[in-house]
Amino acid sequence: MSQTRASIGLMEKHNLTLSGLGRSFGTTRAVDGVSLDIGSGEFVGIIGRSGAGKSTLLRLLNRLVDPTDGHISFAGRDITRMKGRAVRDWRRQCAMIFQQFNLIDRLDVLTNVLVGRLAAHGFASSMAMRFTDAERALAIQALHRLDLAPQALQKAGTLSGGQQQRVAIARALVQNPRILLADEPIASLDPGNATRVMDALRTINVEDGITVLVNLHTLDTARAYCDRIIGMRSGRVVFDGSARALTNDVVREIYGSDDFGDFNESVTSTAIRSSVPA
Ligand SMILES: Nc1ncnc2c1ncn2[C@@H]1O[C@H](COP(=O)(O)OP(=O)(O)OP(=O)(O)O)[C@@H](O)[C@H]1O
Ligand SMILES: [Mg+2]
Repeated sequence: MSQTRASIGLMEKHNLTLSGLGRSFGTTRAVDGVSLDIGSGEFVGIIGRSGAGKSTLLRLLNRLVDPTDGHISFAGRDITRMKGRAVRDWRRQCAMIFQQFNLIDRLDVLTNVLVGRLAAHGFASSMAMRFTDAERALAIQALHRLDLAPQALQKAGTLSGGQQQRVAIARALVQNPRILLADEPIASLDPGNATRVMDALRTINVEDGITVLVNLHTLDTARAYCDRIIGMRSGRVVFDGSARALTNDVVREIYGSDDFGDFNESVTSTAIRSSVPA
């Protein structure tokens, strides 16, 4: 159940392929003809101004939102055509974390992490929240990796924001995912906590080979952590390249030249640097 480096070596590598993916809400094209090939183990940052379609793209990927056109495939399977149980299994494979953590405040940290195992349970056992010893061991191991073992029995609502986001990452990890989707995971954290959360994502990516796609609203974070940066504007991909290729001209194209002055202050405000070797 637990993923080790050795087992990753045996794990088949699969690309995540988006072809002409689109989603409309009324007349709004939230995502508009996005085609991307994301390799196994990549660490991808998605940037763009508010409303560019970043969240919708992640939600399309884990089928929280259905596309109006185009396809997503993974390991030769058409994700967009999946129904019922297959969708639930896919969601287990691509765990999602959110800006607001989405923990159950009144439950302890360990139980919150174990919630990540529920996707693998039947309905009755999910309702009863019954977990095996092996699952508890897996959850404690995940907490240990995120430096949260001492907080295992503390109520989630009493933790700092950064700790809560790391609990959410531990909960994602016990799902044993192939892909981790993170929608602005550090947007409500101070720089110190933001660094710890980004470092944790990077460590998981490097050590476990899990593909990470993370929406970010600060350019310096994207530059510091991401192998590949995707810039979206009005639902479309307008940049796809390395941090080095993300020049000021490109940034202007992504965010729109009219607000260059505004965005320049707002999107670069969190000065954090990766302390995890790539
Ligand atoms: N459920 C929905 N119903 C109607 N419109 C929606 C819905 N979800 C998203 N949209 C619209 O789609 C567009 C893209 O939204 P999305 O949330 O994906 O942008 P974003 O890049 O994540 O923005 P932000 O940086 O503010 O989080 C916006 O115009 C938004 O209003
Ligand atoms: Mg968003």
